Amino acid sequence: MNIVILGAGAIGSLFGSLLSKNNNVVMVGRKDHVDTINKKGLEIQGKTKIKYKIQAFEQLKDISFKPDLLIISVKSYDTEKAIKQAKSIINQNTIVMSIQNGLDNIEKISKFVNPENILICITTHGAFFSKPGVIIHTGIGKTTIGACGGKNIQKIQKCVKIFNNSDIKTSINTNIKQDMWIKAIVNSSINPLTTFFQCKNSYLLENPILKNLVEQICLESTKIARKNGFSIETSDTLKKTKEVIYDTADNYSSMLQSLQKGKKTEIDSINGKLVEIGKKLDCNTFLNEILIHSIKMIS
Ligand SMILES: NC(=O)c1ccc[n+]([C@@H]2O[C@H](COP(=O)([O-])OP(=O)(O)OC[C@H]3O[C@@H](n4cnc5c(N)ncnc54)[C@H](OP(=O)(O)O)[C@@H]3O)[C@@H](O)[C@H]2O)c1
Repeated sequence: MNIVILGAGAIGSLFGSLLSKNNNVVMVGRKDHVDTINKKGLEIQGKTKIKYKIQAFEQLKDISFKPDLLIISVKSYDTEKAIKQAKSIINQNTIVMSIQNGLDNIEKISKFVNPENILICITTHGAFFSKPGVIIHTGIGKTTIGACGGKNIQKIQKCVKIFNNSDIKTSINTNIKQDMWIKAIVNSSINPLTTFFQCKNSYLLENPILKNLVEQICLESTKIARKNGFSIETSDTLKKTKEVIYDTADNYSSMLQSLQKGKKTEIDSINGKLVEIGKKLDCNTFLNEILIHSIKMIS
């Protein structure tokens, strides 16, 4: 399969390198990373130890083929710009897959791509961009693929097979939209709280005030999801949030890492989208609004 990874950062580089075992993969990313990949190959350290020779470009226009699969792995605030650029290399057969977090990526991609060609990938693998050419695989996780619409089963099956053949343990997800919301609910407390208080994930359960805040945010975000039509229970999202905190106890969240690197955060795609939808549905969005203002203030 011909695959283009648009956004060769942490997770895009990890998946791209694994997929390159059995597929023709081209990475699109920033100059230093692209130059190092082309000169020395792409090295994965940590839970996976591999080094692959992969082709990388800075610009999509330098790619000479139409990919069968385009994986979008930019941060959600870059999705619209990235997919606009990608229009020139995709055709009516290209599957466009978002591997991102946040609640607004599919909406942004749908402006330029037929929804029947869009797939969603949710992964709990963890990856960290160490330096140009080197990615740390921080945690082995599970991956599922699904679609918002209902006519994509063959495309989903094809991608699941390709991922499994490349050692990315993957299954079909028939309820992916709901799982995308559950991930956003989990992230709606962990990401902004760890960023504002500049702490490891574990501290959210160690400090009783923060533990209470996690519970209240989870409750508010779940109520928005429920009003938006998902049959999600607060007891389940709270259990999931605590599981994620335990499993990633020693980690600094991706939002805190972005802040420390002086980069933008994905707050608008997570809490921002929850507030936007919540307000339309007449839900209480007070805590999510405070989180947005707090993160924007310190960013
Ligand atoms: N890392 C993980 O473990 C993980 C796991 C699951 C899901 N995710 C989700 O996956 C998405 C990506 O996360 P990440 O951690 O991999 O982020 P990341 O390391 O910042 O990777 C994104 C890369 O894409 C580059 N980029 C942005 N626009 C581009 C464009 N138009 N052309 C070429 N390159 C472009 C960025 O460069 P600049 O930084 O210079 O803009 C950056 O190097 C996020 O939504 C995240 O929440 C991440």
